[in-house]
Amino acid sequence: MKLITKELEQINTTFEYGRSLGIVRAVAKNDEYDGRNLILDGKETVFLGNCSYMGLDQNQEIKDAAKNAIDKFGMYFSSSRTFVGLELFEQMEEKLEEMFEKPVNVTTSTTFAHISNLPILIGKNDAIILDNYVHSSMQTAVNMMRNNGEHVEILRHSRLDLLEDRIKILSAKYNNIWYMIDGIYSMMGDGAPMKELEFLMNKYEQFFVYADDAHGTSWTGKKGVGYVLNEIPFHEKLFIGMSMSKGFGTGGGLMVYPDKASKELVKNLGKTMIFSGPPHPAAAAAAIKSAEIHMRPEFADLQLDLKRKIEYFWKKANQLSLPLSGNYATPIFFIGAGNTENTAYTAKALLDSGFFVSPCTFPSVPKNKTGIRITLSRYITLKDIDNLLEMVNHIYLQLEKMGKMDREQVKRRFTEKSTKELILS
Ligand SMILES: Cc1ncc(COP(=O)(O)O)c(C=O)c1O
Repeated sequence: MKLITKELEQINTTFEYGRSLGIVRAVAKNDEYDGRNLILDGKETVFLGNCSYMGLDQNQEIKDAAKNAIDKFGMYFSSSRTFVGLELFEQMEEKLEEMFEKPVNVTTSTTFAHISNLPILIGKNDAIILDNYVHSSMQTAVNMMRNNGEHVEILRHSRLDLLEDRIKILSAKYNNIWYMIDGIYSMMGDGAPMKELEFLMNKYEQFFVYADDAHGTSWTGKKGVGYVLNEIPFHEKLFIGMSMSKGFGTGGGLMVYPDKASKELVKNLGKTMIFSGPPHPAAAAAAIKSAEIHMRPEFADLQLDLKRKIEYFWKKANQLSLPLSGNYATPIFFIGAGNTENTAYTAKALLDSGFFVSPCTFPSVPKNKTGIRITLSRYITLKDIDNLLEMVNHIYLQLEKMGKMDREQVKRRFTEKSTKELILS
């Protein structure tokens, strides 16, 4: 089969190389899975790419709720909710509305949430500004709308100085200006500057924010409402897509709206709301239980447990002078490696030492910022963190000895203001 472009051919070659090393598209041959250990190549390996930050995917109450729903309703209820849905799906929405204290729609994925939301919320004479690092699911949803005639442009990552200029210019020509962001950026782990964005929403009547807070869900904010809503109170011009597939532990997407009218409009007219199926009954019942757990006072203790681990990781990585992408207190850590070759070498050496991390190269990160991404879940122990980071340091010392890496130079790449960086859109 012929690949379309030289660039895709190159990406494919890198991918196949990673595959031959077992560091991408790895297959865990676990008979049972506990959230921490993967059986890779016959060996127990610590899973440092797990986004189930709170460990709720293995929670017994949630698993029991899912099993019970299968017994009562079967594996699937096969009709679009536009025609008819189970009361269980309504109960799921109601429980999530109790948690977020705002109107909510549920979908089977966050990508589907964006695909339903954007064409309904964004008008034909509106302008869309995509942060350069915004998740691919949002870029996909925006690309699907391009034929409608909306103006779309890309802005360098979190450059609010440039954003304000664009708002001023675009306001003269377009009805509303939408800035599309991640709450917590999925690769580097940094949070969007929500307080500044709140200021801009107040200052410019035509300015709206649409945030994908998939990686901010559950581990932070009161009741786990996420990064965005922990930073600022709800705003009438703020729309949020969240995920139930990461910290929430049950699978699927959800959307939080500032008002009921927006919710109902998307529920009636959103493409995936009409033409795609409902959540699995097991996932719906699991979500109800997970939301209940989020609303218990002791949920804050689970968040604190993870936050302590995040802080421990961050301190230890800094002590070892590892080139972190930034000083962010989030469960996503990105350690630069300088280039694709070093990234593959590091991920493979870690795998051989019993740690599975995610090697990240273009197009998921800019070409000059390749490295390894580590996600911290509650399954990971402080000892795991020590062992992992000491091993990364050991590998980097080897690379430095071979003259293949300069940590200070790698670090600088993350502190320089982005110029012309592109990731795949
Ligand atoms: C920020 C972000 N948004 C959306 C998605 C896609 O989520 P889903 O698989 O539910 O479509 C991901 C996937 O990991 C993500 O990281």
